[in-house]
Amino acid sequence: MNVAHSSSPESEPQRLFFALWPEPELAARLHALAGKTLRPGDGRRVAAENIHLTLAFLGSVDAAFRVCAEQAAAAVRASAFTLTLEQIGCWSRTGILWAGPARVPEALLLLVQELTAGLAGCDYAPERRPYAAHLTLARKVRRCAPPAPIEPLAWLARRFRLVRSCLDTQGAHYEMVREWELSPPAA
Ligand code: 2AM
Repeated sequence: MNVAHSSSPESEPQRLFFALWPEPELAARLHALAGKTLRPGDGRRVAAENIHLTLAFLGSVDAAFRVCAEQAAAAVRASAFTLTLEQIGCWSRTGILWAGPARVPEALLLLVQELTAGLAGCDYAPERRPYAAHLTLARKVRRCAPPAPIEPLAWLARRFRLVRSCLDTQGAHYEMVREWELSPPAA
């Protein structure tokens, strides 16, 4: 478990978010799908190991906030669930190519709600926009096509993690801070 970046003291703010991280096989399929979807020369694909679904973006926070967020995560009782990725789309305003479910499963909404409610005790200001479950597959896309169905990809989400986003000259890279198991799926 990677708890802190060696070169940064605990007191330095860290850019953190909670996310679901697909297994390498699913991430590779999504990465390949982006390659097939993008027109030649357009967009910058997200590396397979960086593909994820954000649950809550915390922004740049201090160590006390991180401890509070970890306590909120440890208190989550939500169940594991299957998320079926059924479509690929593109937001032209932000140039983001994404994959996502056609309908957000109730269990995912419950997980986000539970996490957000716990984070309220940490002075977390939740997003005012409705939650848009998506995995970013490419950025800086200039030629966006309308959403299209894909061969459904079933993803059993069993755990979620707190991740640190480190910005460097290559863009962002991510370090797992900690991971929590979801409860066994409801029978
Ligand atoms: P995106 O992939 O759609 O850009 C780390 O930056 C993760 O948090 C990304 O998945 C990013 O979503 C998400 N995120 C949500 N809100 C954000 C914000 N205000 N700034 C940066 N990233 C944000």
